[in-house]
Amino acid sequence: MDISKKSRSELKGQKATILWLTGLSAAGKSTIANLVDARLHALGKHTYLLDGDNVRLGLNKDLGFSDTDRIENIRRVAEVAGLMVDAGLIAIVAFISPFRRERAMARRLVGPGEFIEIFVDTPIAVAEARDPKGLYKKARRGEIKDFTGIDSPYEPPQDPEIRIDTTVLSAEDAAEQIVRFLGMRS
Ligand SMILES: Nc1ncnc2c1ncn2[C@@H]1O[C@H](COP(=O)(O)OP(=O)(O)OP(=O)(O)O)[C@@H](O)[C@H]1O
Ligand SMILES: [Mg+2]
Repeated sequence: MDISKKSRSELKGQKATILWLTGLSAAGKSTIANLVDARLHALGKHTYLLDGDNVRLGLNKDLGFSDTDRIENIRRVAEVAGLMVDAGLIAIVAFISPFRRERAMARRLVGPGEFIEIFVDTPIAVAEARDPKGLYKKARRGEIKDFTGIDSPYEPPQDPEIRIDTTVLSAEDAAEQIVRFLGMRS
């Protein structure tokens, strides 16, 4: 391990970072994360997107949605994102990640300024009305247990680096706000 994180990210012309999007199901995390990924890629940045929908089918396919499994889910994702930062990448993480403690743990894995918590703030009524995957409907019918916001808690960030109110900001404008934040601090 002779090559440092600093030299790896300098070679890529960027500051290695975790962009951690948290929020309810259907809040807009994946939608916004994909737009951020595309914009940064177009700017010549080296990114990678970790999304609940892909990681849960592979790395974390042994995990369910109990509190214990949700904690382990986030621990593994945080470790992988931390390795990506070591590799000099901008890791974009789009997970509900409902617990404050686990998000704080993820933050501690990387250096100061390398963890950007983005609260995709969508009220449950709005998220439930969108329901693009029909999950709220299933949860209300009791076909899904431990669903965040219904019978499993969501702990909103108290001091996120970025808060996105999707009731007033389009997904495109949200992505723009995030990319601008990165530009301003470098
Ligand atoms: N301002 C907005 N920002 C983001 N998404 C929006 C916005 N307005 C409407 N939407 C819609 O809301 C839905 C959000 O779904 P998305 O899959 O991105 O949510 P998610 O937070 O990733 O949920 P999950 O945790 O279930 O993966 C999409 O259908 C998107 O088009
Ligand atoms: Mg998603």
